[in-house]
Amino acid sequence: MAEKLIELRNISKRFPGVLANDNVSLDIEKGEIHAIIGENGAGKSTLMNIIYGLYEPTQGEILFKGKPTQIKSPLDAIGLGIGMVHQHFMLVPSFTVAENIVLGNEPKHKKLFIDYKKAVAITEELSETYGLKVDPHEKVESLSVGIQQRIEILKVLYKGADVLILDEPTAVLTPQETEELFEVIRKLVNDLGKTVIIITHKLQEVLAISDRVSVMRQGKMIGTLQTKDANEQILAEMMVGREVLFDELYKKESSKKEVLSVKGIKARDNRGLVALNGVSFNLKAGEILGIAGVEGNGQSELVEVLTGLREMEEGEFIVNGVEAFNKSPNEIRKLGIAHVPEDRLATGLSKDASIWENLLMGIQHEEPYAIKGVHINKKKVKERTDRLIDEFDIRTPSGDLPVGKLSGGNMQKVVIAREFSFNTPILIIAQPTRGVDVGAIEFIHSQIIEKRNKGAAILLVSAELDEIFRLSDRIITIYEGKITGEFLNGEITKQEIGLYMTGKHTEKAEGGEKVE
Ligand SMILES: Nc1ncnc2c1ncn2[C@@H]1O[C@H](COP(=O)(O)OP(=O)(O)OP(=O)(O)O)[C@@H](O)[C@H]1O
Ligand SMILES: [Mg+2]
Repeated sequence: MAEKLIELRNISKRFPGVLANDNVSLDIEKGEIHAIIGENGAGKSTLMNIIYGLYEPTQGEILFKGKPTQIKSPLDAIGLGIGMVHQHFMLVPSFTVAENIVLGNEPKHKKLFIDYKKAVAITEELSETYGLKVDPHEKVESLSVGIQQRIEILKVLYKGADVLILDEPTAVLTPQETEELFEVIRKLVNDLGKTVIIITHKLQEVLAISDRVSVMRQGKMIGTLQTKDANEQILAEMMVGREVLFDELYKKESSKKEVLSVKGIKARDNRGLVALNGVSFNLKAGEILGIAGVEGNGQSELVEVLTGLREMEEGEFIVNGVEAFNKSPNEIRKLGIAHVPEDRLATGLSKDASIWENLLMGIQHEEPYAIKGVHINKKKVKERTDRLIDEFDIRTPSGDLPVGKLSGGNMQKVVIAREFSFNTPILIIAQPTRGVDVGAIEFIHSQIIEKRNKGAAILLVSAELDEIFRLSDRIITIYEGKITGEFLNGEITKQEIGLYMTGKHTEKAEGGEKVE
């Protein structure tokens, strides 16, 4: 029998108003890939934070290699060889890759200054050993989330971790990046003897990568299965406690009135490189226009220019007949555009502010929520907060809780609830279901369709092709800052669209060799 590395016995964790973990027991065996799944707020991150010493359990016991062990801080955890990559990254954006990797344990010159050359050498060696490619000199702020995650993993490995806890590592990755990550995980486990605990909402991923899977629901451990005995249906039902059905989404005929258009947009990315190179398209009322692209091909920058968060160098941008070229985010909002940003913690939410404050952002000076634009009408605000919490199924003991204390998926629901509540004629939505559970995906999809059916024009950017295909009326593909194709949904298959997303469609058309 496999050696038990970590044993959790009857662990409970209580936060004010919430029993986040309720008498949970779990074994982690040496050398296994163990998936943890469950709905948003089920208690997965809390349980992992307990193993990593970030939270102390209210009750229960942890055994490490058979011995009762107290893990009082991440330092204790690291001492035992346990490392964690969090759901929301914790890198220092203005530091280089090498500086981030050695952070907290820097090689020093004369015990004083960071030995940068050595930090670079360490980074290169780690990168080589684990097959995770990074450029040590690049600043983290200019890197894609996929690369940032590699850095987080390297950082944990640098600290000497034998057990890696990955909290929703694939939520922010493209399918391609996910496959690469899985290769790395397999290598870590099969060739290097590591143990991996992985949290994910994607059941296909559980089936593809794990040896065993444990399911949580409302703070409790429902059970652990050998992955070979599981399938999506079984897991989904264990997660939600009832049968899960995916309804067909009903779409109404749309009006086709153009409400937004862009012509020849040019913009640069954070590194000053050309990110959008002459992008043109239009968006009509009552339609969902999906933008399909491999992450890093300009779609993030496109969303930013359309919401006033990034400067446009050239081009034309018209919203409802009004020129919107380089208007401020506020002015653009007033033209009737709401925005669900891809990075909820950087641009979507203020972590330390309460749920009600976050839900109010943008209309805090407006009636009936403000009186004379200054005083807050508490009663109205509370009504609105409670209604949105209820409608969007935000799992929280109260609207007063700081948003940062919500589970990841519930934070996402706060952003969606706020932006959807404005009832704007145009919605720009990026990665709406990142990190949300299957039930919530279903809900958010139906809300998007409802908006569309009521006549809203929706621009949808998603790294999930399934999502693009499920929701869009029309799809455009973007590659290296240019639009490479436009299709009505139903006109093209996922395989074909993949060629347009990777710039290989021209080779196909010319009958040329496919170059890798
Ligand atoms: N620091 C905290 N203070 C108060 N409540 C908290 C805190 N951390 C978590 N909670 C609550 O504990 C519950 C479980 O949260 P947790 O983050 O463990 O869920 P999760 O399973 O990781 O969900 P998700 O899939 O959305 O990330 C939630 O109700 C959450 O609001
Ligand atoms: Mg979580």
